[in-house]
Amino acid sequence: GVTPVTVRAAVNGEPVTLRLDPRATLLDTLRERLDLKGTKKGCDRGQCGACTVHIDGRRVLSCLTLAATVSGHQITTIEGLADGDRLHPMQEAFAHHDGLQCGFCTPGQIMSAVAMVDGEGPARSDEEIRERMSGNICRCGAYPRIVDAIRDAQQVMR
Ligand code: FES
Ligand code: FES
Repeated sequence: GVTPVTVRAAVNGEPVTLRLDPRATLLDTLRERLDLKGTKKGCDRGQCGACTVHIDGRRVLSCLTLAATVSGHQITTIEGLADGDRLHPMQEAFAHHDGLQCGFCTPGQIMSAVAMVDGEGPARSDEEIRERMSGNICRCGAYPRIVDAIRDAQQVMR
């Protein structure tokens, strides 16, 4: 058998200690061990962005991240983005602009967009939004409204 490892991290502000298989991905750990199902499993191989979460405010693909490597770090998922009952401005903007169809890609789009604006600075054009969000695939083709939402939200977030 494989020797389990102990991971201590903060998930959405709460301290979490888990014993887990060193091969477990952060994505499976969030979904299956912590029941945080907002983070979606799309391709499970780094190609769709559905699994995007934040580690210390930076966007990462949780399907490509081993949970064993996040000890000592702050993980934020879509469940941790709102401030109590107050939605994050990016969530508000996606709702307002209807930036989704089936909604499968939406948590990843929102997490990616928040880290893009907060961590890396607002985009200066729609073209730049599309380019910097190109790791987040929407099979429904909701891109025009996703771009509208991000353009608006980054004004509020400034
Ligand atoms: Fe991680 Fe697709 S599930 S990139
Ligand atoms: Fe369906 Fe984006 S809204 S995949």
